[in-house]
Amino acid sequence: MKAVVLHELGEPDQLKVEEFADPAPKEGEVVVQLKAAALNRRDVWIRRGRYAGIKLPVIIGSDGAGIVAETGAGVDSSLVGKEVVINPCLNWGDSERVQRDDFRILGLPDNGTYAEYVAIPVENVYDKPNNLTREEAAAIPLAGLTAYRAVVSRANIQKGQTVLITGIGGGVACFALQIAKILGARVFVTSHSDEKLDRAKKIGAEGGVNYKHDQWINELKEMTGNSGIDVVVDSAGGENFDAILDVVKPGGAIVMYGATLGPSDNVTVRRIFWKQLNIFGSTMGSPGDFENMLRLYSNNDLKPVVDSILPLEEAFKAHSRMEDTAQFGKLVLRIDS
Ligand SMILES: NC(=O)c1ccc[n+]([C@@H]2O[C@H](COP(=O)([O-])OP(=O)(O)OC[C@H]3O[C@@H](n4cnc5c(N)ncnc54)[C@H](OP(=O)(O)O)[C@@H]3O)[C@@H](O)[C@H]2O)c1
Repeated sequence: MKAVVLHELGEPDQLKVEEFADPAPKEGEVVVQLKAAALNRRDVWIRRGRYAGIKLPVIIGSDGAGIVAETGAGVDSSLVGKEVVINPCLNWGDSERVQRDDFRILGLPDNGTYAEYVAIPVENVYDKPNNLTREEAAAIPLAGLTAYRAVVSRANIQKGQTVLITGIGGGVACFALQIAKILGARVFVTSHSDEKLDRAKKIGAEGGVNYKHDQWINELKEMTGNSGIDVVVDSAGGENFDAILDVVKPGGAIVMYGATLGPSDNVTVRRIFWKQLNIFGSTMGSPGDFENMLRLYSNNDLKPVVDSILPLEEAFKAHSRMEDTAQFGKLVLRIDS
């Protein structure tokens, strides 16, 4: 098969298509012929060597959609030919509260989806929602799941609540906006780009502020009528975190699923207890979260926000675009056999 195999850490030009041995399904697995894959920030962290447990060579990529091509022992062979979307959470386990210790994400250490074929446990494939193209379906898994768990299962965002989603250009952030809107929340956003703020308004944000402005917190307070934010959905962390503690209203909540800006050394801890805040950490999601998220997208005929679709051979271009933070929504790779 053809696959993008990461042999050395470094720049996007490390990502070249080459010939690689076809995977064979082990017991309990299926092999999916991938028609589309999608990028996540994780793929960039791995290529740069900024991710735990790097093992080379590896085929990166957690998101994919395609057709079941082969089944392993113990798997119903009538699945062959089925259009599926992949849940990249391996070994989540039985608890809704937290993943197992041996939890892994597809695309490191296991070979992932920047390839023509991938082998995956049968419980990780789900029917592709009919309202989505293969490219749209491939855009959903990791980011849609992360957003669903953060917004629904962890923060339990309710109709009428005021929500702030930071860095709306991000893949997960766009899903969080769509899901919070479906729940009936008022959503405000931040971005480094005024153009992205405008795009967010077109897909349901009530308003947005540019976090590059010195006074962005005051601008946001003014925009929300000084009533404050009930829930902040954030993946930037870093210096941002203290601003978020400031902007969230007493009794409010912060749900965090990432730390793009790294650690924070200026947290005013007093704000956390004095304001009676709830702080939720959130990572990926349970199989139940994945199923509920897919149902939400198909029942509401929702489509993920796709920034652009490039052929697998141009994975390096898609990575450069993500590193430039130029994208709005998901970067998808089309895989032609
Ligand atoms: N825990 C999990 O399960 C999980 C799952 C997925 C992702 N993550 C983590 O979540 C983060 C986002 O992932 P992603 O795939 O959505 O990445 P992405 O598509 O690359 O988006 C990252 C976004 O971060 C925003 N950003 C950058 N600096 C910011 C700042 N100072 N304040 C606010 N926002 C800022 C940018 O938004 P603008 O362009 O609008 O400025 C950028 O588009 C990453 O750290 C990733 O590792 C964690």
